[in-house]
Amino acid sequence: MTQNGPSQDQLKDAVAAAAIDEIKPWLERDTVLGIGTGSTANLFIDRLAKLRDDFKGAVASSEASAKRLRGYGIEIFELNSVGTVPFYIDGADEVNAHLHMIKGGGAALTREKIVAACSETFICIADASKRVDRLGEFPLPVEVIPMARSYVARELVKLGADPVYREGVVTDNGNQIIDCFDFMIDDPVAMEARLNAIVGVVTNGLFAARGADVLLLGAGSGVERLTSV
Ligand code: A5P
Repeated sequence: MTQNGPSQDQLKDAVAAAAIDEIKPWLERDTVLGIGTGSTANLFIDRLAKLRDDFKGAVASSEASAKRLRGYGIEIFELNSVGTVPFYIDGADEVNAHLHMIKGGGAALTREKIVAACSETFICIADASKRVDRLGEFPLPVEVIPMARSYVARELVKLGADPVYREGVVTDNGNQIIDCFDFMIDDPVAMEARLNAIVGVVTNGLFAARGADVLLLGAGSGVERLTSV
């Protein structure tokens, strides 16, 4: 707690706790959960560890999350062997009123989007700083096949973005990341599809076609539970 209220980390932990409350009544011995990536997802994993014996295991959206989950003795499953997960719990870099998001600040966007696509309920956990009216202040990540990086960057310039290669980062899929600066997004659903149509793009960090179903948003006044408008 700071003089001005809870810190960002405390807000992240509060939404992690709220997500536990949200899923706990639904856990069964054969439940396999989808788990995201990032500092907020990590706090969720830390709390989930205490429920380890109440569910079967997890599909992770990154090697980092898989390692953390395994560290707590939570079994990791391949998505292909599971099919669908009842819940996918993950953070976001930005989220709007429609629960469209920008994700991928931690470079895990592709696996995050795949697990999200296979989830029945996507629970986004975020502190209030992530809530925006219009997506794009946070640089939009785009995962690219390495040999296509320059071509994709030129195509992104044509769309109005200022693309910057995230140097030194290799994704879990062996690819590279371009971050789109100065790229405010009016129609996230259309832009998600447009970017994915560029040859060499693996996926982009707009989560709009499949946004979140529930947003647990942490503010000084408490955790707000929002559904898409
Ligand atoms: C990881 O690639 C991202 O999509 C994260 O979910 C996002 O960056 C949120 O991270 P924090 O919870 O660390 O803010």
